Amino acid sequence: LDNGVARTPPMGWNSWNTFGCNINETLIRQMTDAMVSSGMRDAGYQYVVVDDCWMNPNRDSAGNLQGDPSRFPSGMKALGDYIHARGLKFGIYQGPLDKTCAQYFNSYPGATGAQGHEAQDARQFAAWGVDYLKYDWCSPSGSIDDQVRVFAIMRDALAAAGRPIVYSINSNSVHSKTGPQRDWGDVANMWRTTEDITNTWNSGQTNGYPMGIQNIVDVTVPLAGRAKPGAFNDMDMLEVGRGGMTDTEMRSHFALWAVMASPLIAGNDLRSMNAATQTILKNANLIGISQDPLARQASQVSFDGTRRVLAKPLANGDVAVALFNQGSATTTVSTTAAAVGKSGSSFTLRDAWTDATSTSTGAISASVPAHGTVVYRVSGGGTTTPPPTPTTFRLRSESA
Ligand code: GLA
Repeated sequence: LDNGVARTPPMGWNSWNTFGCNINETLIRQMTDAMVSSGMRDAGYQYVVVDDCWMNPNRDSAGNLQGDPSRFPSGMKALGDYIHARGLKFGIYQGPLDKTCAQYFNSYPGATGAQGHEAQDARQFAAWGVDYLKYDWCSPSGSIDDQVRVFAIMRDALAAAGRPIVYSINSNSVHSKTGPQRDWGDVANMWRTTEDITNTWNSGQTNGYPMGIQNIVDVTVPLAGRAKPGAFNDMDMLEVGRGGMTDTEMRSHFALWAVMASPLIAGNDLRSMNAATQTILKNANLIGISQDPLARQASQVSFDGTRRVLAKPLANGDVAVALFNQGSATTTVSTTAAAVGKSGSSFTLRDAWTDATSTSTGAISASVPAHGTVVYRVSGGGTTTPPPTPTTFRLRSESA
């Protein structure tokens, strides 16, 4: 979406993965402080996103949304001010239908969705200083054409409200999983490709709830051609630092989200991160690849069912190459400079995890542990045609 924001994949933190509905202003302020003290802000994380369950279950007499008075007694504007004063940006959650997702599942009272209040809610968010809106369809009803129409209402309402706001949508919850079915770049800055992520490597499915890391990669790799400045496939919030996976798997998760140009929205408790989690989330090489101004998503170079090679062209002519072992034993994953779009006969390979450099005459190869991902930034030589971008899906009803 060409609205001036999210020229590279948004980075931040979101309350849902760890806290669900158990949120209040003290927690969000503590997390804002932790963004600063932990070095996450300086590493590039910007948005502090308050997910579902922040709202008063009743609109006021003029129909305005309000923060829940017991849990956000200072109000949402004050929370936004707190976040802005620390050099960060304020994100909030709302749903396009009558209920938010937690209201739909009855874990939260009320029916405060934006339906019929879109312009009013957009103006309210702008007045509170909101910089990022997560807008979450949570209903089995509605065709994909209905979704496009309804998501576009808020897109236009945000534009009319006059404040630059990242527009993040999810079309998949309790639904027929429409995220991959069209290119949402005309509607939003980022769109979820799947149902909700969980802190599991493989949940055994590609079109349901919950989704493991491997499963989200499988769904999102073929959608690479859709990513560009202002428009990204959202592989959902990070599960790094939440347990449930080995350090190798968490490193893979982060590396794949970075090379695939997914937003990097941490979902762990930033107040209590161990060293391994911090090293992963603040890896400057991978953040640099994620935030490269060309804003391309890595395309698939090869995949034999176990060894997957992805390549992300970068603005200065370098190429980031991910050597991903989806199998259950250590194996060598290989490609060549020519296959990832480089010409010439002498290259430098910088390992994103170890920061070690090596030289190569064309071979790009590593021994990769089970579920591991080695990422090299390949420089030197020239740049040939970027690797082919996979065909994008299009609905039969949509024209090219
Ligand atoms: C849906 C979304 C989640 C979260 C919850 C909140 O499940 O996909 O990311 O926002 O709703 O209720």
